[in-house]
Amino acid sequence: MQALNIISAEHRGMWRLTTALDSISREMQSSGSHGGASVVVMMLDYLDAYIDRMHHPKEDRYLFRLLRLRAPHAVAAIEKLEAEHEAGPRHLAALRALVFSLAQGNQNDRAAYFEQMARFIDSLRTHMRFEETTVLPLAREVLTAEDWQEIDAAFLDNQDPLFGVHARAEFADLRARIVMLAPEPVGLGSAAIANAQPDAKRPVLEIRGVTSHYGRIQALHGIDLQVGEGQLVALVGANGAGKTTLLRCISGVQPTGAGSISLHAADITRMAPDKRVRAGICQVPEGRQVFGPMSIEDNLRLGAFTRPQEELAHDMERMYALFPILKEKRLLPAGTLSGGQQQMLAMARALMGRPKLLLLDEPSMGLAPLLVEEIFRIIGNLKAQGITILLIEQNAHAALSIADIGYVIETGVITLSGPGPELLNNEQVKSAYLGM
Ligand SMILES: Nc1ncnc2c1ncn2[C@@H]1O[C@H](COP(=O)(O)OP(=O)(O)O)[C@@H](O)[C@H]1O
Ligand SMILES: [Mg+2]
Repeated sequence: MQALNIISAEHRGMWRLTTALDSISREMQSSGSHGGASVVVMMLDYLDAYIDRMHHPKEDRYLFRLLRLRAPHAVAAIEKLEAEHEAGPRHLAALRALVFSLAQGNQNDRAAYFEQMARFIDSLRTHMRFEETTVLPLAREVLTAEDWQEIDAAFLDNQDPLFGVHARAEFADLRARIVMLAPEPVGLGSAAIANAQPDAKRPVLEIRGVTSHYGRIQALHGIDLQVGEGQLVALVGANGAGKTTLLRCISGVQPTGAGSISLHAADITRMAPDKRVRAGICQVPEGRQVFGPMSIEDNLRLGAFTRPQEELAHDMERMYALFPILKEKRLLPAGTLSGGQQQMLAMARALMGRPKLLLLDEPSMGLAPLLVEEIFRIIGNLKAQGITILLIEQNAHAALSIADIGYVIETGVITLSGPGPELLNNEQVKSAYLGM
């Protein structure tokens, strides 16, 4: 009967999420803001995927199927639960559309959102309560030892792609991310997690066998690369080697052919780019690409589109502390900044998204030597704050000097990798990239 314990534990987890959703929504309602909307979107995404992929299939396929056989008088109750399972994704989708519209500042859907959210929380709780008080006790009573053997085996199967150990890790990770984003008082226990030290052995980004093409030209030939928590990893290589292509595959704007890309053990190979930003991948593109006519402050706002509104001012102050020159010029059009200052703005804009993984594409490109030094000092500073960074550079010396791990890429193939300082002293790297 271990399956029953698993179901109860899953119910407790979902109940806690409904409590958090409820308290964030009430706060939004009483304050009249839509500050918590983005974290609500994440929670709904999570709940949707979790219920649909982890929770229901097991119940429907094993527990309910056998229960129907053993307890014909309970068929109506089981069918009610199954119908609710089936209707769940539809309700969630409607709710998500409403909160998404709210997150974008659309006020028209406010009332409908609060009403539907209350109804959703209520129906999910009623569903769980009904299951726990009627169907589960009945299962305990009528299912045979063989039934439990089959059910428990399915629930405990670690290899199962749907709800095995891999899927559980993926959801544990998504959950940790939500906990970290959720405001402190909602009771998901964020403080403990936020204070955890980064552990380089825990992979943030895992790239396996990634290929990519431009038409018939293959730019990447099976790239393997890892970035651990809190690590600064440098990918160096000559112009045209495929560095930007790889970065664009990671952020999702360039299609990946073969291979896989995972973020915190969750496969994101086919995930849409905006979802990747929400999941914490923020890119500083090649050539900065700040919006010239817009003010510096508005550029920073753009970088925060996934963040709760009420944290914006605070985050902006953090950026101004990190880059004082941006504060001084905050009301000026970004186009009036020098190259180095634009690079700082591009980095600050990405940092406004509170990235789990910061991607930097040739931040030193086109800058005078003194500014290059300044930019690398800032990157070292970000690493010291625990930010996980993948840095792409033609300036191999500067990049490898500050990197924990370095990779060398040549025409779409990784030819060398190892600790940054070691690569710096590698004869092959010295002659090819360092002019020594
Ligand atoms: N938009 C594109 N269309 C066709 N080929 C491209 C395109 N962008 C890049 N490439 C090719 O892909 C290869 C890798 O380019 P890229 O990733 O930009 O290199 P890097 O960033 O290392 O300089 C190069 O051979 C380049 O010519
Ligand atoms: Mg490039």
